Amino acid sequence: MKTLVVFALVAAASAYSFSGFQRDEPDEVPLAQKQHDISSLLYKVYEPLHDANLKTLVDTFDPEANLSNFPDGGVAVRKLLKELKDHKLEEKQHFFSVFNDTQREQALLLTNVLLQCQDWKTGISYAAYFRQRLNEEEFIYALYAAVRHSPLSRNVVLPPIYEILPHFFTSAEVLQKAYRAKIKATPGKFVTNFTGTPNNPEYRVAYFTEDIGLSTHYFNWHLEYPFWWNDTFGPHIERKGETFFWIHHQLNNRFDAERLSNHLDLVQKLHWDETLHDGFHPHTTYKYGDRFPIRPDDIHIENVDHVAEVHDLVVLENRIRDAIDHGYIINKEGSKVDIRNEEGIDILGNIIESSLYSPNVEYYGSLNNLAHVLLGHQGDPHDKYHEAPSVLEHYETATRDPAFYQLHKYIDDLFRKHKDRLPPYNKEELEFRGVAINNINIDGPLETYIEDYEYSLVNAVDDKDEVEDLEISTYIQRLKHKDFSFNIDIINNNDGDVLSTIRIFAWPHRDSNGVIFPFNEGRWRAIELDKFFKTLKPGENHIVRKSVESSVTVPDVPSINTLHDKVEAALTAGSDLHLEQFVSAAGLPNRLLIPKGNEAGVEFKLVVAVTDGAADAAINDLETFEKFHHYGYKGVYPDKKPHGYPLDRHVPDERIFPRHSQLRGNHCQGLQP
Ligand SMILES: *[C@@H]1O[C@H](CO)[C@@H](O)[C@H](O)[C@H]1NC(C)=O
Ligand SMILES: *[C@@H]1O[C@H](CO)[C@@H](O)[C@H](O)[C@H]1NC(C)=O
Ligand SMILES: *[C@@H]1O[C@H](CO)[C@@H](O)[C@H](O)[C@H]1NC(C)=O
Ligand SMILES: *[C@@H]1O[C@H](CO)[C@@H](O)[C@H](O)[C@H]1NC(C)=O
Repeated sequence: MKTLVVFALVAAASAYSFSGFQRDEPDEVPLAQKQHDISSLLYKVYEPLHDANLKTLVDTFDPEANLSNFPDGGVAVRKLLKELKDHKLEEKQHFFSVFNDTQREQALLLTNVLLQCQDWKTGISYAAYFRQRLNEEEFIYALYAAVRHSPLSRNVVLPPIYEILPHFFTSAEVLQKAYRAKIKATPGKFVTNFTGTPNNPEYRVAYFTEDIGLSTHYFNWHLEYPFWWNDTFGPHIERKGETFFWIHHQLNNRFDAERLSNHLDLVQKLHWDETLHDGFHPHTTYKYGDRFPIRPDDIHIENVDHVAEVHDLVVLENRIRDAIDHGYIINKEGSKVDIRNEEGIDILGNIIESSLYSPNVEYYGSLNNLAHVLLGHQGDPHDKYHEAPSVLEHYETATRDPAFYQLHKYIDDLFRKHKDRLPPYNKEELEFRGVAINNINIDGPLETYIEDYEYSLVNAVDDKDEVEDLEISTYIQRLKHKDFSFNIDIINNNDGDVLSTIRIFAWPHRDSNGVIFPFNEGRWRAIELDKFFKTLKPGENHIVRKSVESSVTVPDVPSINTLHDKVEAALTAGSDLHLEQFVSAAGLPNRLLIPKGNEAGVEFKLVVAVTDGAADAAINDLETFEKFHHYGYKGVYPDKKPHGYPLDRHVPDERIFPRHSQLRGNHCQGLQP
């Protein structure tokens, strides 16, 4: 990446209000113990419990003993137990997909039970009890969701999903090697290659689509902002629909930037009536042998029996287009709800996904979720071979399939139609009185490179309790960048301190033909690099913001081995466990902050926007509040401006944005994988 032209922008805004966060629940069980328990529940989840304490706990546990302690008086527990007794639940050793309504509802029965538990011991007892009885993958999903949302497990880190479900990410061939190593009792470390070959142009960007950290981001984001979230589970999640738009919008922009640096065309959006050119062959199998379905190239999208007809999706799309053109949606009660305003994007996001927050599921359906299932079944649309769910039907793996990006480009286009209908920001809205950016600079090389990354396959191979674990792992290439920092000089001509919001974006300067993106096109392709809050003292302010601090990204989730070591050390020493920085894995991994470069260097435009932080803030102490991450904290969103502000709306005349000096060429040598 190399920055070419810099636009600096100074803006201002309107009202100001505060809303506080709830307090963390006090709890006597040390975090290290909680982390230990969750890790033990997830360890070799296809086998009986290994942990002796959990085994003892569950052996004497009566799930019906203390139901009066539940806020619902035990309704959820009784329901789950009845389904179990009636053999209505998915059996073990069978695949599970969150997009399958029956299976998801079963998983959420357990999530609901766990979310209602009032103390750690009760929660862990129910989890252990149902671990022994529920479908394994249903259990994993239910537990992950509960841990992420229960006040009792607030600071527990969820182990990386690619080490809990390694067969979702690792080819069957590598897992065979892992089994052979286990049988021969010799440790092993095996290479995992990206799927495909250089004969497939998409192979050039497989380092991105098949990045396990990208999958972790996508999976964890959906865990924190689930479409099935019902406010009876816990606090209302603010701006969920808008955030749905934004993370997919960012993934689209990121993926297009990766394509440009690899000399590929931009993603073509999906058309229901045109050929879907790119197939996908995942090379992975489910734990019990079903393979992940293959989709051949150049298919005509077909109706899928018992799921949907293509026409159904076209009808939903047209209803959404009508709503965008009218500027209002029709809610369940039949009344009009205006969407041509700042909140409209949130309503549209809820409708398109759709989530339980959708004001009218009956009418607007769930375009996104249905499309995932319909596309996922294209290899066997009439269920002739009873194929297992495809990669598109798991958040863990959806981003691996090129069709994912085509679908989301199509959906993004609907969001853009809506955003382009909103009035452009005017000069008064964009001005931040008395504040100006004097200079922007980047320290350090904007350089990307490829490294090997190792992850454990210990959960991929079954064994008996008495057999000792061997080091069995795989390694795969992944993208990384060198550290750099932004230097921003801002002058504050006001008499006192002012709080500012600083947003940093970049977009590819040229398309695949070398043609420069016009400003209004480029701004829609902007990648959000950072957003932070800073108090500006009167006079000159020199701000250094390191790439590692970016609030849109998260550090890599610690491996199960690292988590294990830290937990055991804390338990042995009786010391506190501090893993706070890893708790939310909803952001992109920091190592993916900038797109891959190439030998010639890829040109990007950079925009730094400084706006009135006091006007933007939705909470107190934004500058020092460490707990919030980019997507909020406990359902509360920290700033009041729309995602992507001030580039989210149509820009009829780019002169509204002051253009800054030419940056010295920060050359980038992205390495080829
Ligand atoms: C039920 O709750 C009581 C008090 O909260 C506790 O002493 C008892 O151990 C609990 N019983 C079970 C089976 O969990
Ligand atoms: C969803 O899961 C249920 C239970 O396993 C199964 O009967 C049904 O066929 C699945 N639906 C789809 C569309 O795959
Ligand atoms: C991975 O790629 C390397 C280099 O192209 C090749 O030698 C090896 O056989 C491949 N391994 C697998 C498991 O496909
Ligand atoms: C949310 O949960 C409540 C209580 O469990 C239930 O009555 C309600 O129907 C649920 N809402 C939706 C939209 O599923």
